[in-house]
Amino acid sequence: MALRANLDPAPNLLTVADAAGKISWTDIFGNNHPVELEIGSGKGTFILAAAEQCPQHNYIGMEWAKAYCDFAADRLRRHGLANARMVHAEALWWIRCHVEENAVAGVHVYFPDPWPKSRHHKRRLIQPEFLNEAHRILAPGGQVRVVTDHADYFEWIKAVFAGQSALAEIPFESPLPQRDGGMVGTNFEKKYALEGRCFYVIAAQKGAVEETSAAGRQKVVKDVPAQKTG
Ligand SMILES: C[S@@+](CC[C@H](N)C(=O)[O-])C[C@H]1O[C@@H](n2cnc3c(N)ncnc32)[C@H](O)[C@@H]1O
Repeated sequence: MALRANLDPAPNLLTVADAAGKISWTDIFGNNHPVELEIGSGKGTFILAAAEQCPQHNYIGMEWAKAYCDFAADRLRRHGLANARMVHAEALWWIRCHVEENAVAGVHVYFPDPWPKSRHHKRRLIQPEFLNEAHRILAPGGQVRVVTDHADYFEWIKAVFAGQSALAEIPFESPLPQRDGGMVGTNFEKKYALEGRCFYVIAAQKGAVEETSAAGRQKVVKDVPAQKTG
């Protein structure tokens, strides 16, 4: 599957030897800005927008479909984004191998494959072990965000979140300062929005959640029910 001819993904492709163990973001990005991970980046539309809009953050996109991964890395290169890299790997495996605990400020999962048949549910990305890993790698105050269009998968996701008591649910806010009317701006969001589908969102934070924040900031409430938009 070639999505575009003459791709040059290498400058924005991060390749880590299996034996390398845990990696240093500072070695990769040359700074100590907060790092956010996106899992299942597809064609890279979210990571591209986030890296452009938030230059004081670094981004790692993970995608196991090689053609999409290369396409996304090539897009990042064409936009001259030094604060974003793509990784071609199965995300949970790569995180376990290479990401230190308390090392990331955010984990983004947008429109994960729903695997609707019961016998395929074990293939779903959002499982207790996935959320345990998200908790391990998030720094205190770090957040995990998920968006799906699939109602049944969302029920599953809510149950997995409810089982991870060390992550406190918080209201979902778009991670993008400029949204063009969308929520996370991915290709699947755009496609499904045209079809008029509902989107289901959930977010959680590692560590204590402020009951009431300072003036002008949003009130953050514990145990907010997962939200549905549409
Ligand atoms: C439905 S697509 C959504 C793509 C993009 N997030 C969007 O909203 O347009 C899900 C993507 O996640 C990737 N993916 C699924 N499981 C993955 C995993 N365990 N590790 C890395 N990528 C994964 C798939 O290859 C696919 O490109």
